[in-house]
Amino acid sequence: MSNIQGTIVEITSLTERISAFRVRAADGNPLPSYAAGAHIEFDLPNGETRAYSLISFDAKFDTPGHYLVAVQREADGSGGSKAMHELTVGTSVSFSAPKNDFPLNTSAPAILLAGGIGVTPMISMASALLAKGQEFSFVFAGRSEADMAYTSDLREMLGDKLRLHFDDKSGIIDLESVIANLGAAHLYVCGPRKMIDTARSIAEGAGVPSERIHFELFEAAKSDSSDAAFEVQINDGSVFEIPAGKTIVEVLEENDVDVMYDCQRGDCGICQCDVLEGIPDHRDVVLSQSERDAGDVMQICVSRAKSPRLVLDI
Ligand code: FES
Repeated sequence: MSNIQGTIVEITSLTERISAFRVRAADGNPLPSYAAGAHIEFDLPNGETRAYSLISFDAKFDTPGHYLVAVQREADGSGGSKAMHELTVGTSVSFSAPKNDFPLNTSAPAILLAGGIGVTPMISMASALLAKGQEFSFVFAGRSEADMAYTSDLREMLGDKLRLHFDDKSGIIDLESVIANLGAAHLYVCGPRKMIDTARSIAEGAGVPSERIHFELFEAAKSDSSDAAFEVQINDGSVFEIPAGKTIVEVLEENDVDVMYDCQRGDCGICQCDVLEGIPDHRDVVLSQSERDAGDVMQICVSRAKSPRLVLDI
């Protein structure tokens, strides 16, 4: 489907690093409907594509007149978040129709657990659950209140359904105690990799079935300056060097090898492939600990190698 041509009609500064962007269709027509948890992908002037969750405080998901997203400028001030923050009101933008890799089951009670800018899809989820009259609680943790977007709006919207946690006042949040209250509810987690990994392993350890654990990673894949280069061999025998700062997907695409991928941050599972030889260095949030330990599949958009060469079924 071709992208939607739109215009930025409002930019609101929410914290020092987070701004909200309201966009409308350039032709003024209503935009495609979506459901809580959906995101749109912006084509940015720097050539990058970035996904941002759609925010709705009023559960008006059908043919809305605008979309609202919030974007946190990354700490190193580079990349797509910087390009978004350089946009101004009136700028033309191009974005995809909504996609949803983080669907909400409004028929079941829920705990919504958000870390930092991971709050954005949870706002739409909370408004959908409120509209349905479904039982839920909303736990929102961040470094400090000043760093967290929408805390006042959420207080007003959610009352005693909301629990705010500020690391600077109370230390790192105790996720064991959050998940101990899960009962038969579904757990939705959106935030940084560490929060998702910890919440998943606590929930899995407590015997919560995987169908009741839902998560979306909310941080861009980061290259680590200490990453080592490694080699990838594919089925036709070709071998490619994957340098530090580049992913397997990027190198294979540059060499015209067809690969499937979507999120490029390690949480959708679309790029998963079989590992025939070598030891992957898993950096996704898709695989369980036992799947990681087995090492026979990997997400090639983020994961790297602990061995000098990987042989992949591609
Ligand atoms: S593209 Fe989504 S996990 Fe790799």
